[in-house]
Amino acid sequence: MDIPVKDRVAGQQAGAQSGQPGSTSASASGGGTATQPGGGFLSDIATLRERARRHIEDGAVTENYGADRETVLKLLNEALATELVCVLRYRRHHFMAKGIHAESVSSEFKVHADEEQAHADRIAARIVQLGGEPDFSPDGLSARSHSQYVEAGSLEEMIKENLVAERIAIESYREMVQYLGDRDPTTRRMLEEILAVEEEHADELADMLAEG
Ligand SMILES: [Fe+2]
Ligand SMILES: [Fe+2]
Repeated sequence: MDIPVKDRVAGQQAGAQSGQPGSTSASASGGGTATQPGGGFLSDIATLRERARRHIEDGAVTENYGADRETVLKLLNEALATELVCVLRYRRHHFMAKGIHAESVSSEFKVHADEEQAHADRIAARIVQLGGEPDFSPDGLSARSHSQYVEAGSLEEMIKENLVAERIAIESYREMVQYLGDRDPTTRRMLEEILAVEEEHADELADMLAEG
């Protein structure tokens, strides 16, 4: 398979959208999010999230799993990129955390970073199981990711940025779980397990902010 997944999925979407009702094409036209053949440099969260939703809508109108496989691979590669960006952001914050509560918060960031890495590994393994290729390329990584890499200054800013990222991941995983339904129980179960951990992360970060 020489053609990158994103390009193969882009082709599928172009075909699917041509035959879809107006509501879908209306959402597809918003935000200037035409597929980026070169990987693109879309970095604003609203556009990335709209793009993720659009893939889900496209997939829902197809009739069988086999036809949706490329969409699932595309979504899983976006989830992989999201986890990798979370690993990098948490690790940065782990090493940069300073202040009165720095020690405990810093070590919690490290725990989260390691758990995000474990999520990335599970997603990559599942992509291969589905006949795809996990995209670990640093080129366009932040554009593929739903969450952002924000360095942040203070400990409080770091916690807030991580909480925002977790909330994006939670929303994104919930949508993927809903989309998968009974079509692919194995992938759905994996994403549900990851989702539960992201909810724990968000809860812990919210507690840290409250303790401030
Ligand atoms: Fe994660
Ligand atoms: Fe997380």
